[in-house]
This record gives sequence, structure tokens and C-alpha cells, in this order.
Amino acid sequence: MSPRDGLQSVKAFIPTQEKVRLIEALISAGLPKIEVTSFVSPKWIPQLADAEHLIESLRKESGTIFQALVLNEKGFQRARRTNLVKEITFVVASTEALNRKNVNMSIADSMRQFASIAKLAKADGIRPRGLVGVAFVCPHEGRVPTSRVLELIEKFFTSGAEEVTLADSLGAAAPDHVYDLFVQAKETFPDKAFAAHFHDTQHLALANIFSAMCAGIDVFEAAVGELGGCPFTAGARGNVATERLVYMLHSMGIETGIDYDQLVKASAFAHQLVSSPSHEAQSAQAGLSLMQTQ
Ligand code: COA
Ligand code: ZN
Repeated sequence: MSPRDGLQSVKAFIPTQEKVRLIEALISAGLPKIEVTSFVSPKWIPQLADAEHLIESLRKESGTIFQALVLNEKGFQRARRTNLVKEITFVVASTEALNRKNVNMSIADSMRQFASIAKLAKADGIRPRGLVGVAFVCPHEGRVPTSRVLELIEKFFTSGAEEVTLADSLGAAAPDHVYDLFVQAKETFPDKAFAAHFHDTQHLALANIFSAMCAGIDVFEAAVGELGGCPFTAGARGNVATERLVYMLHSMGIETGIDYDQLVKASAFAHQLVSSPSHEAQSAQAGLSLMQTQ
């Protein structure tokens, strides 16, 4: 998630070539998949206004699968035209208010968009994924009812999703809740693929990942250096740090194929990227001219 969820809320525009360097570092670390950007409105997420330019600048021959976030059909068409995005993730938040805040649409309208995008994606050999945002705890309503999350999962699968991520966007879920929800999801949809996405606001992300593993989940989304957060989810902090997740898995004897030392280097670079004052000056200019080309 580093270049997408990781960078989307960073105010100063990070030059495209720097984002490319981060992605190259992540590829060198051996990550199997990288969500490289999102194809959303540049007015809503100016930091990722350079999605096409970024993807054009990536090495084409790496074995890493590139994913991108899309939230409407326009975004899907942009992602498709790159010919390099092999998986798309479509987010629907678990409450009407949060979904509207994020995409200015009702949940039903989002799901309709997803269904038509999923069909087009499959015809193009692109794997459609669904992500239930705020699947555990809502900043306004507290614990999200399991029945509502199961309904959204069902809608995603019947609309063509090939994998569904349950996301603790706020970073407020408790490990027993995580275990129960994933057990229920897997029991209800036994042949389906699931993934988990945790923010580390309360420093429970690794405990939550371990709980999800105990429920049989083996796909996890993370961002180096704990980067990230959704600008439309108040109070959220960064994603679980990829390097900490990999350290935990390796110390449990679980093979990931990821080079921990390279990952730590990528994390150090990411930190430099988001804290570099030199980007401030370039940001307004670069962001503006890129937005004008969208
Ligand atoms: N890519 C580029 N531009 C897009 C776009 C896309 N995928 N979707 C819409 N736009 C443009 C439209 O062309 C329009 O531009 P204009 O004002 O110059 O005519 C403008 O954005 C508004 O379009 P509209 O269809 O009215 O969208 P909206 O304002 O209702 O917003 C979304 C809907 C989905 C585009 C917007 O909410 C969004 O991009 N949200 C991003 C949320 C996000 O990324 N959250 C974090 C990750 S979950
Ligand atoms: Zn997130």
C-alpha cells in the first residue's frame, strides 16, 4: 500500500520520479504485489494526480503485480489504458455517511459502479477486488454490525469480486473482533478469497494480523514506515508497517519471499520522501500542472 494509501494524504506533492524510486525499492525487496497509485479525481486526491505518468515510468519487466485503486468507471478506464495494472481495488465504506464522504455516492451506487467495472475488468484480464472500508469500527457509530459487513461482502462477490479485503481503516479494531469477523466471513463464503488491511492507530495492527491469521487469512496489506491513512476517515493513522509485519512473519518461521533488509531500506527512503522539505516548493507547481492535464 506504500505508494497509494501510504502517500495519498501527504500534502506536499512528491515528484513522480521519487514515487518511482520508492516503488523500485519495494520491487527490489521482493513484494509480490504493490498498489502503485489510485485513479481517482485529482481534485479529491491531488497527490496521486500523476497516476498515468507514474505507471509509464515504471520498469515493465518486474515480476511484481501492480494494483491500483479505482472508485468509478472513469478511473477504471484510466487504469485499463496503462496496460500495466493487473488488479484493481474498489472501496465501499460500511456506512452510508462514510461512503458518501469518500466517494460522494450511496453504497448502492458504488456497488452498481463496481459491478459494471468488474465485468469490464475481467474481459480485459484484470482482477477485480473489493475492499470494505471501516469494516470493524466506525468513527461515528462504533462497532460495525457483522451482518452489515457480511452483506457488503456478498454484494462484492455477486458483483464479480475475486477477492475481498476487510479494512480497519480507523485502526481501532480489537483482536477478538477481527478473529470473529474473519471466521464468520470464511464460514459464510468458504470458497472465496479474503485479505486484511489494518491501520496501526492503537498499535494493535500486528495483534489483529495474528488474529486474522488464526482465522485462516494469508493476504495482508501494509505500507513501509507506517505510512498512510485516508483523508476522509478522521482520526486514522498509518498502515501497519510492512517491515514489522515481515519481521513478525519471519520470526514465526513463515516464508514470505521478501528481503527484510531491502524492505528496511525502502522504509528509510519512504520516510525521507514524506519528510523532505525540498518537496514543498515543487509541490504547488507540479501538482497544478499535472492536474491540468487530467
Ligand atoms: N479520474 C479523474 N477525474 C475524475 C475521476 C477519475 N476517476 N472521476 C471524476 N473525475 C473528475 C470529473 O471529470 C469532474 O471533473 P470536472 O469538475 O473538471 O468536470 C470531477 O472529477 C468531479 O466528478 P464527479 O463525477 O462529479 O465526481 P464527484 O465530485 O462526485 O466525486 C469521485 C466522485 C469518486 C470522483 C471522488 O469522490 C473521488 O475521486 N474520491 C476519491 C476518494 C479516495 O481516493 N479516497 C481514499 C481512498 S479510499
Ligand atoms: Zn487504508
